[in-house]
Amino acid sequence: MFDIPFLDLPPMGGASGTVRLPGSKSISNRVLLLAGLAAGTTVVHDLLDSDDTRVMLAALEALGCTLERHGRTLHVGGLGGRLKVHEAKLFLGNAGTAMRPLAAALAVLATTQGGRFELSGVPRMHERPIGDLVDALRPLGCTVEDLGQPGYPPLRLSGQAGGTLATERPIRVRGDVSSQFLTALLLALPLVADARAVTIEVEGELISKPYIEITLNLLARFGIAVQREGWQRFTIPQGSAYRTPGAIHVEGDASSASYFVALGAIAAHGGAPLRIEGVGSDSIQGDIRFVEAAQAMGAQVKSGPGWLEVHRGRWPLAGITLDANHIPDAAMTLAVMALYADGPTRISGIASWRVKETDRIAAMAAELRKVGATVIEGADFIEVAPPAAWRAASIRTYDDHRMAMCLSLAAFNPAAGARVPVRILEPQCVGKTFPDYFEALFGVAEAAPEDVPVIAIDGPTASGKGTLAAAVAARLGYDLLDSGALYRATGLAAQWDGVSPDDEAALAHLAARLDLRFGHGADSGRTWLRGREVTDDLRLESSGLMASRVSAHPAVRQALHALQLSFRRAPGLVADGRDMGTVVFPAAPLKVFLTASAAERAARRHKQLIDKGISANIEDLRADLEARDARDKNRSVAPLKPAEDALLLDNSHLTIEESVARVLAWWQERGPFEAHA
Ligand code: C5P
Repeated sequence: MFDIPFLDLPPMGGASGTVRLPGSKSISNRVLLLAGLAAGTTVVHDLLDSDDTRVMLAALEALGCTLERHGRTLHVGGLGGRLKVHEAKLFLGNAGTAMRPLAAALAVLATTQGGRFELSGVPRMHERPIGDLVDALRPLGCTVEDLGQPGYPPLRLSGQAGGTLATERPIRVRGDVSSQFLTALLLALPLVADARAVTIEVEGELISKPYIEITLNLLARFGIAVQREGWQRFTIPQGSAYRTPGAIHVEGDASSASYFVALGAIAAHGGAPLRIEGVGSDSIQGDIRFVEAAQAMGAQVKSGPGWLEVHRGRWPLAGITLDANHIPDAAMTLAVMALYADGPTRISGIASWRVKETDRIAAMAAELRKVGATVIEGADFIEVAPPAAWRAASIRTYDDHRMAMCLSLAAFNPAAGARVPVRILEPQCVGKTFPDYFEALFGVAEAAPEDVPVIAIDGPTASGKGTLAAAVAARLGYDLLDSGALYRATGLAAQWDGVSPDDEAALAHLAARLDLRFGHGADSGRTWLRGREVTDDLRLESSGLMASRVSAHPAVRQALHALQLSFRRAPGLVADGRDMGTVVFPAAPLKVFLTASAAERAARRHKQLIDKGISANIEDLRADLEARDARDKNRSVAPLKPAEDALLLDNSHLTIEESVARVLAWWQERGPFEAHA
């Protein structure tokens, strides 16, 4: 996950390969609540792990449900409809799928069993309406207090044990602002349907019907067979009680799939399609119908149970006019596909966008205009005409995961003949539903090497290159190439195999077949050689000395050249070594040559070793450093020297943070984007 202030996406021209989708948010949070209310244990497979599910899990735990993780499954011990905890304050972040159903369920339980519950969220949650649900609960006999603005969270739900609910008459709820109010009642009222059937009537035209279908589908899995008359009347039969299905599988998120369906339509123009695993033709999620809309714009889609395969079809895409009431979330993706169409695309029936994570109509219009599109917005529609000229844009995401994921697709502008990068501000907002979105995107995106930015950081031994490079890479979300590790690993492999450091041909043979793996994510910073972890071995002084010897051989350097180039992948690379700027990435847009006095470097290395509990003599260290510097500088191939266009940075008197800030400032000056605080 990219927890950084911004992520710069280079222009990317193609896409192929396979994406595995995370679990559906809508299904995950419904399943969690149902499992939490049912009696017994429910084993949940492939649950989404994201901000929205985390707040639901924390709420269930606070209410006394038991949660046990076993690998990719979660065992939820439910309450069996009986409150264990009668007082709690629950923080629900910005998760509408937690706020609305928990409000209804706890209102019903507090009224009949006694309790006092406060539900709150982030400031945006307190701007998202819940009044229609409250208006349905109060006539039932529930005590619901507005703790902030009337009609919005936070709320307090309370009651005395033994209270009754007025379920003899139909319960009325409005359906035209959010379908989540109806979902909330459908999930809560089976708790009180043992003695008498409960009927819910919808006032006004029900929006987002497919989400109600998900609710009904999952209720059925938990033993509740709701009878439906059109979309106006829903009856929970007398004698209903939640029963765990034992185990349940969460299918991949169809809304998340939309970004990759769109990507395939825009950029899968090579031989292979873009394959999406986790949802397919058998999906119960309404957003799967996004596929039809994408096909109307030109996507070629094949599907089967649990998978989709997408190819670019018609190109440019066709502008369409669509009432997207049935796919409100995925429809956002159409607004971005519209950038690649041959005419305007008009999406209507999306008034609900205005009350989502942000006002999505306004946000989408503002950000699409930045890349060059012409946008008309109305109360319940948006019309997008493709850019005449693309512009490098810094995209605000409004703490809305879908804004970040949608606008990332603007980086595929080479498909439209442009070649501009896209900056996504606060990219970590994707954590709401798809924490690894950008990793998944870069896994299938193809960029021309010359479009992928490289920052080369060269310098002598112990100048602090490695630390600086890692910090700069982390801050930009770029990959890291520690080229010294390749030479060190070659030296280590030579030691293991008893190859002499003077045998150039044998060393080059080893280097060309180096089975080296660098850890990512939780394993970042760890390294394996031939399957054996060598993280610490590589850092030994002896490995450094060995590396300095093997690296003097031209054939060894040649053997490692292609491997080093292969690190240049989207979104970008920070490469440190001796010849990153001079030989390996001579066209790198930023080259830094890092120096520090030999005395300072020896003192730093000494401190590092002492901190690790390794005894060392500072004079010997300095002599070693100077010998290595001399060998690196005087060898015939790729000698250590600053590239002509390198910026010199003497960090003898700088902290690491100061050096990082200096390099980032240089980088910022080179890019097309405005500085950000
Ligand atoms: O940077 P590090 O100290 O890990 O590098 C170990 C040795 O590998 C250096 O002393 C240098 O001789 C060699 N090296 C190189 N070219 C690079 C990186 C490292 O020759 N790009």
